[in-house]
Amino acid sequence: MNTHLNTQSKSLTYLVTGGAGFIGSHLSEHLLNQGNTVFALDNLSTGNIDNIQRLQGHPNFHFVRDDIMNQMVLDRLASQSDIVVHLAAAVGVQLIVERPVHTIETNIMGSEMVLKTALRYGCRVLMASTSEVYGKGIKIPFNEGDDVLLGTTDKSRWAYAASKMVDEFLGLAYWQEYGLEVVPFRLFNTVGARQTGQYGMVIPRFVQQALRGDPIKVYGDGTQSRCFCDVRDVILAIAGLAEHSDVAGKLYNIGSTEEVSILALAEKVKTQTGSASEIVLIPYTEAYPSGFEDMQRRVPDIGRINARLDWKPTRDLTEILTSVIEFEKSRM
Ligand SMILES: NC(=O)c1ccc[n+]([C@@H]2O[C@H](COP(=O)([O-])OP(=O)(O)OC[C@H]3O[C@@H](n4cnc5c(N)ncnc54)[C@H](O)[C@@H]3O)[C@@H](O)[C@H]2O)c1
Repeated sequence: MNTHLNTQSKSLTYLVTGGAGFIGSHLSEHLLNQGNTVFALDNLSTGNIDNIQRLQGHPNFHFVRDDIMNQMVLDRLASQSDIVVHLAAAVGVQLIVERPVHTIETNIMGSEMVLKTALRYGCRVLMASTSEVYGKGIKIPFNEGDDVLLGTTDKSRWAYAASKMVDEFLGLAYWQEYGLEVVPFRLFNTVGARQTGQYGMVIPRFVQQALRGDPIKVYGDGTQSRCFCDVRDVILAIAGLAEHSDVAGKLYNIGSTEEVSILALAEKVKTQTGSASEIVLIPYTEAYPSGFEDMQRRVPDIGRINARLDWKPTRDLTEILTSVIEFEKSRM
């Protein structure tokens, strides 16, 4: 809609694909609080209408239950929008391993349609990519300029990373060839209220198991580590990139640098919930289909986004777990 975007001076209209998802619902709420208008497009495949319940009465919030593959709907919404934040994707390790065709098609064709449509209406595009694209990289921390090493194509787990890499290539190509303002960002593990444990997300899963008194199931030997970033911090980074006039055509890591092993995470969840659950180790061969490969460490270098936006996470793991525990208790 607006090729002469002046983000400093007026409220904007955002199209958030995946707007009823975990990150999308938090982002939509933040954008509305900043005085913007939000169209949330979501087919509710992994998202949930409950995530956006509190936004439904807002005069500037418009939820459209549909698919990003529906060109007519995309056209209608993009033609009224200044910025598209493209979050809709097939997500979650379990889902990806079990439904590789769906993963590849949603992530590649869906993003292609979003980019083509954004180009038609001159919308700036923010695209969610993932730390998974660093693959089996062992140079810590992961920097946007690092080479990547993925597993072989007969291991469907890597379809997610490869599909998101194609999205990045395509987005950057639209910037290079057509001058469309595209900002791909690589999210590291993002956590907080409303995230579902259903698709293999580790923190909600551990918290639910601990609260029920069930065994807390750690896959592998638990020495693999991750850095968990609070969704409330992550959306500030995404909104910051959306509003910044000089960030297009570059990749940005978004994540926390506080590293914890999955076994230590399980112990911390057990302590913070006051649970009597035992912690059990489940071999990968039992947890996932054969040939599953995990990444041992994933630590982001956030120097680039910090230099651009002065952004860094403000909440530590204890605070993150407190909010997830509170949320899961309210759901029970
Ligand atoms: N949460 C994380 O730790 C994390 C890490 C790396 C990258 N990401 C990326 O962030 C984005 C958001 O992830 P999330 O954690 O909020 O997951 P989520 O599953 O809660 O959000 C994705 C949303 O997209 C919707 N969706 C999926 N396919 C769609 C389609 N074809 N049409 C319309 N809507 C569709 C789902 O219903 C869901 O609401 C994704 O692109 C994901 O790859 C997330």
